[in-house]
Amino acid sequence: MNATDVQSVPPAASPAHIQQMFDRIAPRYDAANRVMSAGVDLLWRRKAIGRLLDGLGPTPRLLDLGAGTLDGALEIARRVPGARVVAADFAREMLRAGRAKLRADGDLAARVQPQIADGHALPYADGAFDGAFSAFCVRNLADLPRAMRELRRVVRPGGRIAVLEFFRPERSRLFFDKVYNARVLPLLGWAVTGDRAAYQYLPASIAAFRSRDEYAALLREAGFAQVDARPLFPSGVASLVVAS
Ligand SMILES: C[S@@+](CC[C@H](N)C(=O)[O-])C[C@H]1O[C@@H](n2cnc3c(N)ncnc32)[C@H](O)[C@@H]1O
Repeated sequence: MNATDVQSVPPAASPAHIQQMFDRIAPRYDAANRVMSAGVDLLWRRKAIGRLLDGLGPTPRLLDLGAGTLDGALEIARRVPGARVVAADFAREMLRAGRAKLRADGDLAARVQPQIADGHALPYADGAFDGAFSAFCVRNLADLPRAMRELRRVVRPGGRIAVLEFFRPERSRLFFDKVYNARVLPLLGWAVTGDRAAYQYLPASIAAFRSRDEYAALLREAGFAQVDARPLFPSGVASLVVAS
C-alpha cells in the first residue's frame, strides 16, 4: 500500500488498513508521539495507570489493549514489581518496536508479554485479568460495542479498566480542532515518520469518533456499572475513562 491509498481511506477504515498503517509507522511512532504532544503523552499514561492500579494489589494480572510500542505496559510493570502484563496488539511491527525496549531488562521481559491479538476477539478466558489499560486504541476499533463487550468479558467482576483517548469534542475548539489537529499535527507526524496519510487519519478519526459521554454510555451498555469519564490536564484534549 502507498500513501495515496491510505489517504483515500475513510476514518472508519477497515481493520486491515489500520493494522497496515500502524505497522508502517511503527519504527518512528514513539518519536512522533513525543514531538506532537511535547512529551505530555507520558504524563497522561502515568496518570491513567495510577488510577488503574489503585487498590488492585501487589500482583495484578493486567491487559494492555492496543499496546503498540509497549510504553503503557512497561510503565505498569515498572510501577508494580509483582504485576504481569499481557501487551496485546494486532500490529506486529508495533510490538516488534516495543520488544526492543524489553531486551535491556530481564525482569521486565519476564513480566511483560507482547501478544498478537485483535481487540474484537480476545484470545483470553473470562475474567483472566484484574484490570485493563488501553491508550489511544479504542478510536480505531471497527466494532466498538463488540470490542468493549470483549474487554468486559476478560476483566474479572470487580476489576477495572482505564482508557485514554481523544474523543470527538462536543463543540469544535478553535485552536485544537481547526489549527493544531487539522494543520500542525499532520505536518509534524509527516516530518517525523515520513507518512503523511497516517497523521491525516488521526484528526479525521477523532472527528468521526464518539464523544466522551457517548463512549461512557457504551461502556455501561457493555456491562460496566461505574464509569468515570473526564478530560485530562493540561489541555483537556485527551480524556481518561475509568470503569469497573
Ligand atoms: C495510537 S496506537 C497506541 C499505542 C499505545 N497504546 C500507546 O499509547 O502509544 C493504537 C494501537 O492500537 C492498535 N490497534 C488498533 N486496532 C486494534 C485492534 N482491533 N486490535 C488490537 N490492536 C489494535 C494499533 O495497532 C496500534 O498499535
